[in-house]
Amino acid sequence: MEIPFSRWHAAIPLRRSRRSYDSAALEPDQLDQLRTVCGEFRPFPQARAELVTESPDRIFRGAVGPYGKIKGARALIAFIGDMDDPYVQEKVGYIGEAVILEAMAMGLATCWVGGFFRPKVAASVVGVGKNERVLAVTPVGRAVENVTREERIMTGFGRNHRRKPLAELVTGVAQPDWPQWVKPALEAARIAPSAINRQPWRFYVEPHSITVSVDNSRFSFGVSKRLDCGIAMLHIEVAALDAGVQGRWEFLEAPGVARFAVESGG
Ligand SMILES: Cc1cc2nc3c(=O)[nH]c(=O)nc-3n(C[C@H](O)[C@H](O)[C@H](O)COP(=O)(O)O)c2cc1C
Repeated sequence: MEIPFSRWHAAIPLRRSRRSYDSAALEPDQLDQLRTVCGEFRPFPQARAELVTESPDRIFRGAVGPYGKIKGARALIAFIGDMDDPYVQEKVGYIGEAVILEAMAMGLATCWVGGFFRPKVAASVVGVGKNERVLAVTPVGRAVENVTREERIMTGFGRNHRRKPLAELVTGVAQPDWPQWVKPALEAARIAPSAINRQPWRFYVEPHSITVSVDNSRFSFGVSKRLDCGIAMLHIEVAALDAGVQGRWEFLEAPGVARFAVESGG
């Protein structure tokens, strides 16, 4: 499946994590559309997404931690990776965010959940191979219309949605000299979601590329920062494509994550 870049680019600024859901089931055509994107967006064979429509509460139940519980969701998507792959985290972040942006484009709410779910229950529900693990999940559905008081508390009254300015995140070529596609690509990456909003990605701009790296390995919170970086990678590529630029990702050794090099249009 090709990246529907305009559709996903438009979804990026609209997406925010929602944790309280309307109990109405999704329509069959919405479930079909989600299943299609899970099945067909497979740029990396080592990472996949699976829609689950039975009892997602079992997977979230008992969730504890700074966030509290995900409530009321009737469906869930599991993000699964082959742990033998050295870049499994970035790949799962990348494909997972694709499904999340498609859900947003369909008007559905989501919330990446990396730490506070039951991976073994999720694995038994979706069925995983010997080397596969469920690295994260998201509820998917209609969020209750107004953000609940509980959600407001969980998001630190909006604090967890704020982002660092680009000046704190970017080095390399100075902004006035950036090619036209670089600003929207970095802006899209800057507003990407990350576990506990830690924004661990750093970006190095060269004339025809952006290199993503991770800030440090200090605080992992049970969720790899490289998974967050995979999410930002997808945002970079979606915005670049929307600016008419095609590129290719090359995965790097830590603390590097991956380099997006222009192949055409830049
Ligand atoms: C990899 C990952 C793991 C996350 N894990 C959780 C989680 O376990 N529970 C939760 O409620 N939110 C979780 N979040 C949501 C983040 O807290 C949220 O994306 C961040 O605060 C930014 O807010 P926004 O998504 O509304 O922009 C996770 C996000 C990411 C990207």
